[in-house]
Amino acid sequence: MFQVKILGIETSCDETGVAVYDPHGGIVAEGLYSQLDLHARFGGVVPELASRDHIAKLTPMIREVLADGGMELSDLDGIAYTAGPGLVGALMVGGSLATGLAMGLGKPVIPVHHMEAHLLAAMLEDDPPTFPFVALLVSGGHSLLVETRGLGEYAILGETLDDAAGEAFDKVARLLSLPYPGGPPLAALAEHGDPEAFRFPRPMLRKGLNFSFSGLKTAVRLALERSAGNGDTLSEQLRADVAASFQAAAVETLVEKCLRACDETGLDRLVIAGGVGANVQLRKQLKTRGGERGITVHYPRQSLCTDNGAMIALTGWHRRHEAAELPAIFARPRWPLDELRPPPVTAAELN
Ligand code: KG4
Ligand code: ZN
Repeated sequence: MFQVKILGIETSCDETGVAVYDPHGGIVAEGLYSQLDLHARFGGVVPELASRDHIAKLTPMIREVLADGGMELSDLDGIAYTAGPGLVGALMVGGSLATGLAMGLGKPVIPVHHMEAHLLAAMLEDDPPTFPFVALLVSGGHSLLVETRGLGEYAILGETLDDAAGEAFDKVARLLSLPYPGGPPLAALAEHGDPEAFRFPRPMLRKGLNFSFSGLKTAVRLALERSAGNGDTLSEQLRADVAASFQAAAVETLVEKCLRACDETGLDRLVIAGGVGANVQLRKQLKTRGGERGITVHYPRQSLCTDNGAMIALTGWHRRHEAAELPAIFARPRWPLDELRPPPVTAAELN
């Protein structure tokens, strides 16, 4: 069977991700290295350190992934890399290596939009969503609701006016002295708490499709300050109650907006993507509330929700006909998703 193998390289932030995808075998091999420990003591990602670490990890990781898949560089049919949005230095590392490799091998190099890759990640699963659908992209840097009619046909329905959903989890986790990134430890702490112990605001819940999370974060900060001011020690139970109540407010907001987006577009398929998509409460509630309304919800497995090379390779495959003709390194730290257009259709595909 004719195979096309695309190497995907992800270096937009603090994860070095490498994978080989082919449309028949799916993910052939993959590798992921998280820089979490490197940035943990700074409470957030330090761009310069991120770039340097990508340089150190990327080449050995590509070697390992190819060896795992029993492949040589010459077996690849193209190389895709994240061209944006992201940290410019980190993007340049992946872009330079991908472009250099592609030039050396005489293979096409395909710049990929990171958010489009998140949006398509669910298609790597056994039960892939079909177009059209509403996508909720919730990561550390973005919160977007996107009406997705086809590849490259993206209309932004709503976005955050201040903090991204993941950023809100990270900031509240910091208030609770939890390590960065805060989403997973906050969700774990919330399991032991009462989600109704505090009634935190649900900003803009009944208004439109935009999000706002900074008021919620402030409400949490004030509640913690009040408890400390009352002389209450921040007991483990109080911290867990705050975490559970915050998570309940954030999840309710995201769920309501998703359901409204489906109502407004008349679509009955919902695709969740991005790091916050790994949140168990969000997944549970969307499944239940969406199910009640006949909405099918697709999630990628947790490791495909967070940054990874496989989603870049998959997107590179979809956009393989847009390979850069004259190798130039594309790095766009800011790159609106709705600037993308459908990929060109080849004569072979029309026949
Ligand atoms: O998509 P991603 O891996 O990287 C970006 O492109 O930003 O998303 C990372 C974000 C972080 O803010 C992290 O705290 C959040 O996703 N996150 C979670 C969970 N796992 C990761 N937030 C809530 N619950 C989780 N289980
Ligand atoms: Zn991401």
